[in-house]
Amino acid sequence: MEPSIRIATSKDQTRLSDAAPALSVVIPTRNEAGNVLPLLSHLQEALKEVPAEVIFVDDSTDDTPAIVNSAVDQFGSLQVRLLHREPDQRTGGLGGAVTLGLQNARAEYACVMDGDMQHPPELVPVMLQTALEKNADIVVATRRSSESKVDGLNLARDLVSKGLDRIGRIFFPRQLRGVSDPLTGFFLVRIKALDLEALRPKGFKILLEILVRNPRLRKAEVPFVFGERLAGESKASVKEVFRYLNLLWTLRFGQGFGRFLGFALVGLSGIAVNSGILYLATEQLRIYYLISAAVATVGSTLWNFFLTEALVYRKAKTSDGRFKRLGLFFVMNSIALAGRTPLIYVLTQNLGMHYVYSNLISLGILTVLRFALADNVIWKKAGDDPQNHAASEWRRRMKQQYTYNIHNIISVVSEGQLPELEPFRVSYEIVDPTIILQLGIPPKNMPKSDPKDRYIHFKEIFGHIGFEVGIEFNDRVHVTASRMLGHSPHVLYTNVIEPILRWTFVKKGYALVHGATIAFGNEAYMITARTDTGKTTTLLKILARQRRGNDRAAFLSDDMTIVSPDGTALTYPKPMTISAHTLRAVNTDTLSFKERLILPFQSRVHSRSGRKAAFLISKTKLPAATINLLVQMLIPPPKYYVQKLVPNVKLSQKGNFAGMFIIERGEGGNEAMDSEEALEVLLKNCEDAYGFPPYESLKEFLYMDDGHDLRVTEQNIIRLAMGELPATRIRSENMDWWCRIPEFVDEQMARDCTCEPRSAALKVNPAMANAGR
Ligand code: GDD
Ligand code: MN
Repeated sequence: MEPSIRIATSKDQTRLSDAAPALSVVIPTRNEAGNVLPLLSHLQEALKEVPAEVIFVDDSTDDTPAIVNSAVDQFGSLQVRLLHREPDQRTGGLGGAVTLGLQNARAEYACVMDGDMQHPPELVPVMLQTALEKNADIVVATRRSSESKVDGLNLARDLVSKGLDRIGRIFFPRQLRGVSDPLTGFFLVRIKALDLEALRPKGFKILLEILVRNPRLRKAEVPFVFGERLAGESKASVKEVFRYLNLLWTLRFGQGFGRFLGFALVGLSGIAVNSGILYLATEQLRIYYLISAAVATVGSTLWNFFLTEALVYRKAKTSDGRFKRLGLFFVMNSIALAGRTPLIYVLTQNLGMHYVYSNLISLGILTVLRFALADNVIWKKAGDDPQNHAASEWRRRMKQQYTYNIHNIISVVSEGQLPELEPFRVSYEIVDPTIILQLGIPPKNMPKSDPKDRYIHFKEIFGHIGFEVGIEFNDRVHVTASRMLGHSPHVLYTNVIEPILRWTFVKKGYALVHGATIAFGNEAYMITARTDTGKTTTLLKILARQRRGNDRAAFLSDDMTIVSPDGTALTYPKPMTISAHTLRAVNTDTLSFKERLILPFQSRVHSRSGRKAAFLISKTKLPAATINLLVQMLIPPPKYYVQKLVPNVKLSQKGNFAGMFIIERGEGGNEAMDSEEALEVLLKNCEDAYGFPPYESLKEFLYMDDGHDLRVTEQNIIRLAMGELPATRIRSENMDWWCRIPEFVDEQMARDCTCEPRSAALKVNPAMANAGR
């Protein structure tokens, strides 16, 4: 539920919204009635030159909020705002307050400081200056440098503080390296550089959490003197120490700690059960002690299993697969048991440990290992939130976010980079993306919150070690792809995202058509062909060889074009897959030596024969998608942006369709085509572009939308857009399509694109040449 936060603003509302502040000062307060006004007057003095807002995030029970409200007009230039949290809203304590303040800050930079004057307000503009000069994302005001001083902590607290600093560094040596005071409450951040949604604050040490969760921040420091508190008293307490330790632990190990403790305790109880059975069976039932030991092991394993199910993973309400889990549990414990003896031996003999210690350590190590297996394999997901994909969750789970906006039609937020979509990359946040792509283990099933929700899961024998995806359709498309796919981004794009895009475009009223499109002025011409005919080379040659200064030919797309039913073509500038042959055609030295060196290998693998091999594999029982993934991981396809191949190429955003060319190899001639026939070829070529695994397994799921066949819709869109276009089939044996196409545009274009003199035999009959127009 949204907290009902009272927001105080100046009576002069316009002032607040007009002047976008350059700096937001975030001040958490809890019972600081005596400090607010002195602090504000110092800030006003210090920030004379800086348009700033001051946000108090208040959890007070005294009259601090009233005093802040009274200050709103008195300190008009500071744009004072108050976010007051009621008792039931005070999650995260100090850190939660800071996070809320940062979320509400309107400036690019925010300075977080205490409200008790222990942090000198005069330093605030210096920190901002430092951030700008050093281009830093975070400026930490440190109490722990040679130029700093700590007056405001007594000896005991200073020692405690240093001790907590040490402990923090044990947990996060890398993340805290170079930060002399990760526990300070005084710092300045560039808000956009942070992932605020990921923060799960617990008490005072919000800075440490920010540093750990955003390890790539560019950091700077300024020293300061941590002074005495002006009025009121400190809220530091033993409770805060525990909160800090808890923060460290969850940051390091996630929420799994509770489960681990439970698991270890169950294991401990199992030892008691085991001894009990051993004793009873041997002494009372007079069973031979080795046999009772075996019986005891079975008994304690069963005990451990059912207790773990009931207590540690009780949220997993499923009873199916219980036998499988039990079996795995037995296997795991047997292996652990067998592993204990050699472990103790190594610890004692090789590392010289006392055998009692070795024994304890081996128990500890094996408990951790068993837990790791139990948590990640046997009860995988069971303890997790079943609403794995809940709206607010996905952002938090993403390690990185790449955001793409395709012509304002489709937006994608992806955890892995999608090189094909890079030209559409934007730096702003997209709140409600059309497609979300996460990397991880795709769930087998998806709980439906709506009967319309649909989910498909594809994997091969290697599971998430290979090619595995889960695609969920509800009000948006939610894709989970195996991490392995993240390592082969071209495969991820081509074989997962592009098919999804195709049908998502259709739902949005557009078609993603397999064809290159070139623009001459506002006119767009689509060139379509069977894969590997020579579409890319044709396009590149037209672009590269038109006469300088007259460059009317512009690039719209090479492989796929976005087609709107009103006859508009929108650019889709994916990098183009080229071959050594293509490169010769363009005749540029833009590729580096290394790029040229590996190109022959790349084009061999990614040529028609390479794809044919892949296609044959897909007809077998072999894991074709995974094999493809691995091959492309080792030898990525030779993909280059058109700008790289044709320097200074003109790029066009869109154009109006004026014609269509179908290029084919064979006995030369131009031939006007019946539009219906042309469309058929076009649609056929569209299908050609897909068909790679796992397309067969996914396609029906993708094109059937709530009972509608999107293929029909797609055809209608294409028909509306291109049905009436003059279409020409150009056959050529020597692949000279590139110098024949401009002739159709106009005479000027034909002259600008003159090609080498053609042999008489191939000369086009002028009557035929104009047939398409
Ligand atoms: N909103 C809110 N909610 N503010 C709080 C809360 C809370 O639960 N607890 C404390 N504050 C505010 C205080 O009102 C003050 O403005 C600021 O946070 C710091 O609290 P103090 O009580 O003054 O803490 P301290 O001076 O002992 O601790 C300082 O040094 C620590 C390092 O030793 C702070 O700067 C800490 O952030 C810092 O970690
Ligand atoms: Mn203080």
